[in-house]
Amino acid sequence: MRHGATLAPETGTPNPLPIACGWHAHRVRCSQLPEGASMKRSVLTLLLIALTFCIPVVGYPQVRTVPGVSSSDDLRPAYATAQDVAEGKRVADASCAKCHGAAGISTSRGVPHIAGQRPGYLLTELLTYQAGARGDNAMSNAVKYLKEDALVKVSAYYAGLEPAQPSATGVAKAAPAGPDPASAGKAAAAGCAGCHGESGITKIPGMPSLIGLDPKYFVAAVNGYKSGQRKHDMMKTLVSALSEADMNNIALFYALQKPGKAQTPSPGDQAAGKAAAAACSGCHGEGGVSANPTTPSLAGQDAQYFAAAMRAYKDGPRSDATMKGLAASVDDNTIKNLAAYYANQQPKQPSVKKPLTIAELAQRCDRCHGVNGNSTDPRSPALAAQRADYLEQAMRAYQKGGRKSKAMAAMLDALPAAEIESLAAHYASQRARSVVYVILPPK
Ligand code: HEC
Ligand code: HEC
Ligand code: HEC
Ligand code: HEC
Repeated sequence: MRHGATLAPETGTPNPLPIACGWHAHRVRCSQLPEGASMKRSVLTLLLIALTFCIPVVGYPQVRTVPGVSSSDDLRPAYATAQDVAEGKRVADASCAKCHGAAGISTSRGVPHIAGQRPGYLLTELLTYQAGARGDNAMSNAVKYLKEDALVKVSAYYAGLEPAQPSATGVAKAAPAGPDPASAGKAAAAGCAGCHGESGITKIPGMPSLIGLDPKYFVAAVNGYKSGQRKHDMMKTLVSALSEADMNNIALFYALQKPGKAQTPSPGDQAAGKAAAAACSGCHGEGGVSANPTTPSLAGQDAQYFAAAMRAYKDGPRSDATMKGLAASVDDNTIKNLAAYYANQQPKQPSVKKPLTIAELAQRCDRCHGVNGNSTDPRSPALAAQRADYLEQAMRAYQKGGRKSKAMAAMLDALPAAEIESLAAHYASQRARSVVYVILPPK
């Protein structure tokens, strides 16, 4: 078997269902060794290893190309001979071991484990460093004077080593899976329920419903109380201890609850209220469902709170200039009618998406990186049991653009730092599984 072998479907179509291993690959199969199986894999071109575990990778992206390297070229390390691997070990001992550890298992911050990493991926990255396209100076210098042939062999050598396991990475068994933001919000909102209702639907006249409020308005309101810009001593005391994260989580929790009207009386003439509301709908939306995240929805709001808010704009402590101007000319009877009208409109859920949990996020990553980060494609990096500090560093490099990959930049776009940390901890704590690539005889 020679260089011509390819993992892509033979049709040459741009990989709609490129397969990491098995049936569609035609020439190369991969076989993931069961946990604990110990096998000598100094040579990757072992033939006919029983296929124990095989996962098609759906939607795998175009494999990145390095100038001058065709996509079948980067599989060369997968076809290395025992002699190639022995030569690769000599290169490794001389040029790599001082940073990457004696057997490709690193003990230094920021230096990745490379033992058991997928062979095609290793070669591509080495060529990328050599071309100066992956930033890091230490690595670029380490490979600068090595011939391509040496890079092929050293890749084959490292790919065949036993990968690190989570215990070796200094990461505790379970990733510190914090509660997801909405659950954290629910817990933090426990003290609010007595006045604002269990899910933010008030049952007490004078207490506002918090349901249907956009998180932007919600957070601004809480910050207003905190800073004293919105004067209300009791609310100020109640929210003073909330952290930024608490506030965001609570706002998200209420925004995700099923909306319902306030369960409080709403005396007043709704029809007259509806007529008067024509002057308000430009900002507060038809039926009081606001489309502007900084303008509160009024649909389903408690009538007594509504009227108190209007009076607080008119001649009380609420300082918003726009509302002050508008409320000045609204008489008490009209306020009562407006309150009755809005209280009886159906509130709607603001358009916020529930953020994915780490487990849900990781499922998306696994589509390319293999089950629990155990890639079965020789060109795609395994993440399982990699050092957490390195995984974080790599993800931040994609986010900042220092490391170029369209797929990864899209995956990590706008992912907050906390999620990056949790994902790194998640993958660092997964068991690494070795992969043996089996070269099938040509058809
Ligand atoms: C001076 C220390 C040093 C030496 C010597 C060194 N490396 Fe590295 N290597 C690093 C660091 C640091 C990184 C991570 C850089 C980054 O974030 O891009 C790295 C990254 C890599 C990666 C990328 C791994 C991944 O998961 O993307 C590969 C592959 C690699 N090294 C292989 C080698 C090989 C092969 C040699 C010997 C020819 C070698 N390195 C020599 C420090 C070194
Ligand atoms: C003791 C009763 C009580 C508790 C407990 C309470 N609130 Fe309030 N909350 C009120 C009252 C009364 C108002 C109306 C204040 C005003 O007129 O500005 C209010 C107003 C608000 C508003 C503004 C609503 C709007 O439409 O502008 C927000 C947001 C809010 N509370 C959040 C919270 C959060 C979060 C908690 C829990 C940490 C909480 N409240 C606990 C009584 C309470
Ligand atoms: C130009 C846009 C605009 C118009 C028109 C407008 N509002 Fe407002 N309204 C706002 C904004 C912005 C706020 C939030 C102000 C704040 O933070 O205190 C608000 C707040 C309110 C509140 C307080 C809601 C709460 O949850 O605390 C009430 C009640 C209200 N408006 C009623 C009305 C009524 C009734 C009318 C029509 C007579 C009206 N608004 C017209 C922009 C507008
Ligand atoms: C569409 C396929 C795809 C998805 C989905 C994907 N990745 Fe990747 N990932 C890649 C490819 C391809 C590379 C190699 C890119 C390169 O050459 O720099 C990569 C590289 C990485 C690396 C660098 C590994 C190393 O050893 O340096 C990390 C870390 C990583 N991905 C994490 C993730 C995480 C976390 C997710 C989910 C949030 C994810 N990836 C989702 C395709 C994907």
